[in-house]
Amino acid sequence: MSTEKFVEPLCYDYKYLFRPDLLKGKVAFITGGGSGICFTIAEIFMRHQCDTVIVSRNLTRLQASSKCLENATGQKCLPVKADVRKPEEIKEAVIKALQEFQRIDILINGAAGNFLCPAAKLSFNAFRTVMDIDTMGTFNASKIVFEKYMTDHGGVIVNITSTQHISGVPMQCHVGAAKSAIEALTKHLAVEWGPNNVRIMCVAPGPVEETEGYRRLAGPASKEDILKIIPIRKIGTRCDIANIILFVVSEAAGLLTGSCIIADGGSWMGMMSAVFNQIPPPKL
Ligand code: HXC
Ligand code: NAP
Repeated sequence: MSTEKFVEPLCYDYKYLFRPDLLKGKVAFITGGGSGICFTIAEIFMRHQCDTVIVSRNLTRLQASSKCLENATGQKCLPVKADVRKPEEIKEAVIKALQEFQRIDILINGAAGNFLCPAAKLSFNAFRTVMDIDTMGTFNASKIVFEKYMTDHGGVIVNITSTQHISGVPMQCHVGAAKSAIEALTKHLAVEWGPNNVRIMCVAPGPVEETEGYRRLAGPASKEDILKIIPIRKIGTRCDIANIILFVVSEAAGLLTGSCIIADGGSWMGMMSAVFNQIPPPKL
């Protein structure tokens, strides 16, 4: 299969906000790392001297992405095919990663599935599919990486969630249910695995441009419409999210565990203000 259609955008003009050797000697295992936000997380980690393992179902795309990341950063990136819904495949992927690098310091749970669909039209299998990829996938990868490495060596796990469940947006009950379960899981694991020196955090992006999620969910809304509900009037970039996650996995965030950083420019709070801001202010 041609790899030309799998070209992911790189952050060519990346401006370092942290020490360039921040992650020197570390290894990150990133589900969903062949595309979108998680591709950029891999890129920014590698620009900080981390080696990466990118994991998903489409090996052709993973191989194209790995080559592109290695060429851009000079670090190693191992592409591994696995479906996060299948614990045996994740186990194999973790074993391959450990054979190659002998360590996994960071796990990013980014693999996810989404589409717009009203609850009344959603098939039982459609709901289950998103729960399986997002929630089960996060549990599967976390448990396996913990058992095989972090239980003895510590580490940081970052789960990528979203903001749909905070306000119950329409046509997203499958995703809201899956992501809020991940946020609950994060707290439970933070308490159980803290003594093993493992921190577990969530980062919840709002709309992020140049991503599959944005293409699927923006629907007929224009960029101007979306900007109206974002208090800071800026749509997030892949690089914005990657920088926040870089902070979360760094020692600067050493006291953070079991919580969720909402990285959305305030958009989850913006719906009503978009409506009320249309009303002229009262004369004082
Ligand atoms: C309703 C749908 C559907 C749709 C699939 N289904 N697409 N139902 N509307 N648009 C139903 C199918 O009919 C089927 O149910 C069930 O879901 C499983 O579908 P499959 O195609 O067999 O599943 P699978 O091959 O496992 O693919 C999973 C997928 C697919 C989620 C459906 O789209 C995928 O692989 N997505 C990965 C990429 C992705 O979604 N990226 C966006 C992430 S963004 P039946 O009953 O017919 O068997 C994100 C949050 C963004 O997560 C937040 C932004 C603010
Ligand atoms: P994306 O590029 O489609 O990323 C999803 C990734 O998950 C793909 O690389 C896909 O690769 C992988 N994946 C899907 N099902 C899988 C499975 N069963 N096993 C293994 N890998 C699987 O979309 P994105 O928009 O960048 O989203 C990335 C993350 O950010 C997701 O967790 C999403 O929920 C979250 N998020 C995105 C936005 C946004 O605006 N984009 C907002 C909030 C949250 P394969 O197809 O090769 O398996």
